[in-house]
Amino acid sequence: MTTNGDRIIKIFDTTLRDGEQSPGCSMNLQEKMEVAQALIALNVDIIEAGFPIASPGDFEAVREIATAFRGPTTICGLARCNDADIDRCWEAVKHAAQPRIHVFLATSAIHREFKLKMTPDEIIHRAVAGVRRAVSYCDDVEFSPEDAARTELDFLCQVVEKAIDAGATTVNIPDTVGYATPAHMARVIATLRDRVPNIDKATISIHCHNDLGLAVANSLAAVEQGAGQIECTVNGIGERAGNCSLEEIVMAMRVRHDYFHCDTRINTQRLVPTSRLLTSVTGMAVQRNKAIVGRNAFAHEAGIHQDGMLKEPRTYEIMRPEDVGFSKTDLVLGKHSGRAALADRAKALGYQLTGEQLQRVFEEFKLLADKKKEVYDGDIAALIQQEIQQAGEDDNEWSLVSFELSSGTGRKPHVRLTLRRGGEEFCEELTDGDGPIDAGFLATKKITGLDLVCKDFRVRSATVGHDAIGEVTLEVEHKGQIYRGSGASTDTVEATIKAALNAVNRIGANKK
Ligand code: KIV
Ligand code: ZN
Repeated sequence: MTTNGDRIIKIFDTTLRDGEQSPGCSMNLQEKMEVAQALIALNVDIIEAGFPIASPGDFEAVREIATAFRGPTTICGLARCNDADIDRCWEAVKHAAQPRIHVFLATSAIHREFKLKMTPDEIIHRAVAGVRRAVSYCDDVEFSPEDAARTELDFLCQVVEKAIDAGATTVNIPDTVGYATPAHMARVIATLRDRVPNIDKATISIHCHNDLGLAVANSLAAVEQGAGQIECTVNGIGERAGNCSLEEIVMAMRVRHDYFHCDTRINTQRLVPTSRLLTSVTGMAVQRNKAIVGRNAFAHEAGIHQDGMLKEPRTYEIMRPEDVGFSKTDLVLGKHSGRAALADRAKALGYQLTGEQLQRVFEEFKLLADKKKEVYDGDIAALIQQEIQQAGEDDNEWSLVSFELSSGTGRKPHVRLTLRRGGEEFCEELTDGDGPIDAGFLATKKITGLDLVCKDFRVRSATVGHDAIGEVTLEVEHKGQIYRGSGASTDTVEATIKAALNAVNRIGANKK
């Protein structure tokens, strides 16, 4: 509760678990640490850091995050309702100052019958055993009846009651397949509050997927009926159409405080920097007109609107851009700017760089400022992200030395590429490919000798203008596994080669 009696709704961020699970969003350890750092600065209440039993990488990430961030933020790990999952989860989260174990088990008829092949009684038994085991390790235990929105309400009430009896302190209601509508979700939460006798002993949480584009609306409906925790992700990333978007739900409650009479502890000025960080890390850009954090979210085009804005911004703006972290001006640095100015911008953009990292970014910045007169926030973010990524690879086996390329209408491109591995340089020339980008990729493949099949290729302009940095994110398949790589440069071919080498180095690190 706030001093004026409003409810404080807990924000449970699952970007690193449900978000990371979605195609194209996987992150390495260093990237997860960066995102966790940003979530701490955003002041989320709970970070779901991963699913420890899922892979050694997931386990390590949860353990590292639990160990590194020992402030008031709760660090949570996910587990199915079985001993091995829960034990592994506890091994990872036990280092946290405030650990939480989140256990889940599907409850809907369709999951019971086809996936689990269990009777309702068996489900209750398994859920209770799972919660009890988690409680034997940790005071803070969350239970989720997966696919709750499609579960018979009577049965859902029974499972929730038993889970609370067994010691669950939070009961989370997932709309796993994004099936609910706001009125439906309101009825589910109201029924639980009405019919579950011990419901006051636990916090009700809501976890909505966005298959019908209703995740935020459904979560708000749950809050209106008394849910005290919302599960969400930055930029709404997540399985299929994603999860409830953190920035949208937080600003809905902040802007419509007159209606909801509740708030969160989120530092809303960190919303845009956090969104941008996640975009750089995953290569998954938000659409221009995305609410709150999209590039057009505060752009006014129509003359009547612009006129109104000049007279009084509140005529057409329900929140101020600076409240969500858009800086007033984007034009920041040039070739005469010093290290202090760069450090200042990096901080404003949400990055915490070590002295060494800042020095390396500064060197890249000077090269860039020589090429471009005006260096924008997006350019700086791209340089920093590249530095973070390289630092994240334990072993940057391959690096780019130089390339020359010629191409033209009606002929195959010709490329001469030199790469370095260890102290040695390797050079290849080839005339191949359906364009310069393809030629750069093929030459990288030839020198590294790896069998790479490009599965996804995306170029994003970090800023506006023809001289902007291009960020390339690609996915390659090697021996049946997918590896992501990204690279940035004002030259898209160079960015492609860097991205391919980033993926190649990940393959190397994985082998080791
Ligand atoms: O969508 C879902 O059901 C989940 C649970 C594990 C909470 O992500
Ligand atoms: Zn989910």
